[in-house]
Amino acid sequence: MSIKTVVIPVAGMGTRFLPATKAVSKEMLPLLDKPLLHYAIEEAKSAGITSFIFVTNLNNKFPSLYLSKNKILESHLREKNKLKTLKMIRDITLKEKNIRLVYQKKPLGLGDAIHRTKKYVGKDDFAVLLPDDLILGRNCLKELISVYNKKNSNVIGVMSVDKKEVNKYGIVKGSIANGRTSKINELVEKPKIKDAPSRLAVVGRYILKNNIFKYLRKISKGAENEIQLTDAISLSAINENVFSYEFSGTRYDCGSKLGFIKAQLACAMLDNSIRKSFKKELEKILRRNY
Ligand code: UTP
Repeated sequence: MSIKTVVIPVAGMGTRFLPATKAVSKEMLPLLDKPLLHYAIEEAKSAGITSFIFVTNLNNKFPSLYLSKNKILESHLREKNKLKTLKMIRDITLKEKNIRLVYQKKPLGLGDAIHRTKKYVGKDDFAVLLPDDLILGRNCLKELISVYNKKNSNVIGVMSVDKKEVNKYGIVKGSIANGRTSKINELVEKPKIKDAPSRLAVVGRYILKNNIFKYLRKISKGAENEIQLTDAISLSAINENVFSYEFSGTRYDCGSKLGFIKAQLACAMLDNSIRKSFKKELEKILRRNY
């Protein structure tokens, strides 16, 4: 069975990006003219996903607003004969039956967010995608699904980070590595630099076997006093096969100021309509003495 469902958690408070995230949630921050959510949906759709489950808080209705039909906007674009834009807006729309919102009243952690989707995920294995981890280049979810299709096991997207950064991530303790794929023995959430078992860090892409819910039920609060998804995956690795895959794209942490601006620059460089003038302007800005 291939992966058809993605869980996209958006219930966090985005405290690193305040005040911007006081009124608008993090996945709606735009890179050029598209919000992070748009990139997430595009990546999932082109990896073959057809069903979208959002874990959201009571204030955040943005995913359903962004992905459902906007009749007033569509008729305005039709009247103005902006047919290309109309098509683009329509292409974003998902069928109502393919979107589900699951509520997490308090941000108790990513593990808790995923646990809440059990009823809606049903019996299938599924993907998890964090929209603030933007991955440009090769479609990361597609890469992980192709490993899942071969191994029929949990597959986690990882990347190599600087030694001094390991304390910000879930870090992989692996055994047998085969190219980009490793078999995981354990995941350690935010280890001290001296205790880190490797430099392979978990970022926001996972393919999970349905039995992860069994392990999510068993774990209690971990690092940062939150229910950590990595703790459930680590526990499952005792009995189940868990693989990590070093994806080939470039990841930007859009939940941080520096990561977000780097992603913004990369998107500008990828956009043919502005690349040339953008480079000139950037050179001017860099020459100024701030
Ligand atoms: P982060 O760890 O970046 O947390 O969540 P955050 O609250 O969004 O941001 P900061 O750290 O306070 O700045 C990673 C992803 O997991 C979701 C977030 O919405 C984000 O997409 N998340 C996190 C939840 O849905 N629920 C939670 O309890 C925690």
